[in-house]
Amino acid sequence: MKGKNLGFMIICFVVNGLFFLQPTLAKGNIEDGKSKSMLCSACHGQDGNSINPEWPSLAGQHEKYFVNTLKAYKNESRKNAVMYPLVMTLSEQDMMDLAAYYQVQTPKKLSYDYDLAKKGEALYRGGNSSGVAACIACHGPRGKGNPGAGYPSIAGQHAAYTKNALIEYTNGNRKPGINDMMQTLASRMTSEEMDSVAEYIQALGSK
Ligand code: HEC
Ligand code: HEC
Repeated sequence: MKGKNLGFMIICFVVNGLFFLQPTLAKGNIEDGKSKSMLCSACHGQDGNSINPEWPSLAGQHEKYFVNTLKAYKNESRKNAVMYPLVMTLSEQDMMDLAAYYQVQTPKKLSYDYDLAKKGEALYRGGNSSGVAACIACHGPRGKGNPGAGYPSIAGQHAAYTKNALIEYTNGNRKPGINDMMQTLASRMTSEEMDSVAEYIQALGSK
């Protein structure tokens, strides 16, 4: 009986200990994020809308995906020579502040090639016979992703960046993905499929 009680006490102690070890959920501060974003605006635009189609727009991106991504650059599970030195200067609080700021920025609408986007729409909504799952399942009908699950918003993103992102999943430069979902998908896509679905994703920002 005594032994049992001791065991129970130890369990309570461990469980309590775990409870207290949980970090308090800190939140990002939009105003602080705005001032910290000066460093980023040269490439990502002042309001998170990048002008160079090779550089991703960040406006409207979800905080969770945003912070996870910056951490992935830092631990080099996502390899990029431009972002790596930049994130080395950021603290966890900086990352959260920046994420809070960019999340509330409004993505700009971009023009797009209608016929190419139409082709991409079929893949986005229905997947293909080579085993590519429909993008809509995780990124949603409007490309807004799933904030809680950490699925990024891709709506209105520059097609050139999206195509590059899909290639990066196939060549091993991006490893942060949840269960390697994107790595598997992208490796089953042709270059033409990447072009058309990227155009549709750019178009989604205008819908
Ligand atoms: C010199 C240009 C440049 C600067 C300055 C810059 N970035 Fe980037 N950023 C890029 C490029 C290029 C990429 C795409 C890299 C890749 O393919 O992984 C990128 C990617 C990102 C991504 C991933 C986007 C996504 O959709 O997955 C985030 C988040 C990001 N940058 C945040 C920042 C923040 C925050 C700052 C400021 C502290 C910053 N960047 C400064 C060029 C820049
Ligand atoms: C099973 C869920 C799932 C499906 C289906 C899916 N994605 Fe993703 N996608 C994700 C997740 C999770 C991430 C973030 C992974 C990471 O952190 O690198 C992601 C990331 C991306 C990114 C990178 C975004 C950025 O800003 O860099 C692109 C582009 C993308 N997906 C396009 C697609 C396309 C196109 C399809 C359909 C052909 C598709 N996805 C289908 C879950 C999914």
